[in-house]
Amino acid sequence: MEHRHLGRSGMLVSEIIYGNWITHGSQVEEDAAHACVRAALDSGITTFDTADVYAGTRAEEVLGRALKGQRREGLEILTKVYWPTGEGVNDRGLSRKHITESIHGSLRRLQTDYVDLYQAHRYDYATPLDETLRTFDDLVRQGKVLYVGVSEWRAEEIRAAVEMAELMGFDRLVSNQPQYSMLWRAIEPDVVPTSIELGLGQIVWSPIAQGVLTGKYLPGQPVPEGSRATSADKHFMDELLSDEVLTAVQGLVPIAADLGLSMAQLAIAWVLQQPGITSAIIGATKPEQVLDNVGAVGVTLDADVLARIDSVLAGVVRRDSADTVSPPVRP
Ligand SMILES: NC(=O)c1ccc[n+]([C@@H]2O[C@H](COP(=O)([O-])OP(=O)(O)OC[C@H]3O[C@@H](n4cnc5c(N)ncnc54)[C@H](OP(=O)(O)O)[C@@H]3O)[C@@H](O)[C@H]2O)c1
Repeated sequence: MEHRHLGRSGMLVSEIIYGNWITHGSQVEEDAAHACVRAALDSGITTFDTADVYAGTRAEEVLGRALKGQRREGLEILTKVYWPTGEGVNDRGLSRKHITESIHGSLRRLQTDYVDLYQAHRYDYATPLDETLRTFDDLVRQGKVLYVGVSEWRAEEIRAAVEMAELMGFDRLVSNQPQYSMLWRAIEPDVVPTSIELGLGQIVWSPIAQGVLTGKYLPGQPVPEGSRATSADKHFMDELLSDEVLTAVQGLVPIAADLGLSMAQLAIAWVLQQPGITSAIIGATKPEQVLDNVGAVGVTLDADVLARIDSVLAGVVRRDSADTVSPPVRP
């Protein structure tokens, strides 16, 4: 495993981060979750991503149990706040009240005194930015949070936050967590250049497009038994599962074969060598998937390969920065 600095911060994170959205506390049983975490640790992954909202807060509990007994200094634990964690009017968003209550819940469920990175899971148009950033800064000063970042914020929102932090002396954002893969490149026009300029690293989600880039979903065929596409909790998969996308993805099979890589390794290696990317956050339901995916570390794709990939996927890649969105009103 290789490690990289998280944005302009002094903290190193693993190039592959293991995340537990949809899996822990919902799609997979506790034993399988622990086995995946064990495989991640054995592969040299030190960074783990979760969120207060995953599996109705159960995902943090599962991760806390799975990491119990590990040396805390050897881990980077990342979580998030924004999406609703309860029915109350204040159980959501980036207000001082909800952030303060949510971090306490996360620390309790994760069984830790601090998280290494605390992320605003979306932009909250109903809370003044200075209220959110001051609360984040307070948590840093209290030692409950070591670094702060965001997820799916637009370039102008990231810039406004960094400028406000400079003006007010608040701790600065060091990372953004956007969706990014060979198929979904909405951050390339604006978010990545702005983040490079301002010192934020991208730790990106769904680098294999939720399994679609493994090539296991075939056009015109039923989805494989037990795959995420069969899960009641699945999100954002409909477009990825269109015949047009699945047919294009099959065009990657000979490219991966020529390189002696699995399809997942090709997809993750592609992500890791794009400008401004710090890490790929992978999900996995089985330890074998973790072992497959970490095989992407150290792989460099040359210009010919990158051009072949672009040509195969030309008709189905999403590149519009307008696809980076937060809910206009609080969910
Ligand atoms: N900030 C945000 O808004 C946001 C949103 C989404 C995710 N995330 C973060 O990003 C993490 C990763 O997202 P993701 O789970 O969508 O990532 P992903 O790595 O693109 O997809 C993971 C899923 O693909 C399948 N898979 C993985 N490796 C495979 C392999 N080698 N062969 C075949 N199938 C394989 C597994 O599902 P099956 O076995 O069930 O098919 C696995 O659960 C999340 O856990 C979370 O931490 C953040």
